[in-house]
Amino acid sequence: MKYAIITGASSGFGAAIAKRLQHQGYGLVLLARRYDRLLALQKSLLATPVVIAKVDVCNVNEVEKAISNLGAEVADNIYILVNNAGLAVGRGPIESGMIDDWNRMIDTNVKGLLHVSKVVIPLLKKHPNSHLINISSIAGKETYGGGNVYCASKHAVDALSRAMRIDLVEQQIRVSNIAPGAAETEFSLVRFKGDKQTAKSVYNGFDALQADDIAQAVGFIVSRPPHVSIADLTIMPSAQANASLIHKN
Ligand SMILES: NC(=O)c1ccc[n+]([C@@H]2O[C@H](COP(=O)([O-])OP(=O)(O)OC[C@H]3O[C@@H](n4cnc5c(N)ncnc54)[C@H](OP(=O)(O)O)[C@@H]3O)[C@@H](O)[C@H]2O)c1
Repeated sequence: MKYAIITGASSGFGAAIAKRLQHQGYGLVLLARRYDRLLALQKSLLATPVVIAKVDVCNVNEVEKAISNLGAEVADNIYILVNNAGLAVGRGPIESGMIDDWNRMIDTNVKGLLHVSKVVIPLLKKHPNSHLINISSIAGKETYGGGNVYCASKHAVDALSRAMRIDLVEQQIRVSNIAPGAAETEFSLVRFKGDKQTAKSVYNGFDALQADDIAQAVGFIVSRPPHVSIADLTIMPSAQANASLIHKN
């Protein structure tokens, strides 16, 4: 059985990617902080083996422990890593940004992705043509008003995808970067710190992407033949023109 490791699998893109990859026959290793959510997801995913672990990607010791606890049958068969865990916290002018929000975004989106990659790449190296997929953002391609530090963190992810592609080409690990536009997940609820009304208003007046739209892209990437690497995909709702412009009814 081939396995995929997915970070941030407790909601949104990560949970949808888990479902899609299981449908395509992969066993799963699902990581996130909310264990109850992982447990509920595990109970619903019955077609292949599913390992879950409570991991804060910001904490390198937790990442190392979770991966070293995988049995040999799983650890020797990791073919896919999806670095998906991430978040935006707050939105506003740089001078009124909160240091704690900045730290959470940089620690999770950049350092967390590095922690997981460092620990999992040695496992991917066992299999030529394995996949490392980074979930960046349209905010990693362009900046938008009030998005400053989130955009910076996702620009770092975009740069890391390009750098990893160079570092891992000899090992035949295919590195893909996915840059989604506006998608209706728990993303805005987290960004606006539980303010449901503001979070909902982000998606008013247009058809936002849904989590499975991104999961389908992951499913496509991992089903390409060995000589094909999907390097970079920007996926937006039809109503979105760029990072700042969404046509709303
Ligand atoms: N939705 C969008 O519009 C959009 C657009 C472009 C890019 N993205 C990116 O897509 C990725 C997934 O976001 P989403 O839209 O699916 O949002 P979401 O529904 O809020 O999911 C985010 C996931 O990341 C996990 N996570 C956050 N901090 C973590 C940490 N320190 N350690 C481990 N897991 C952590 C969360 O799990 P726990 O809270 O349980 O730990 C959750 O499973 C993120 O990287 C986000 O930046 C989203």
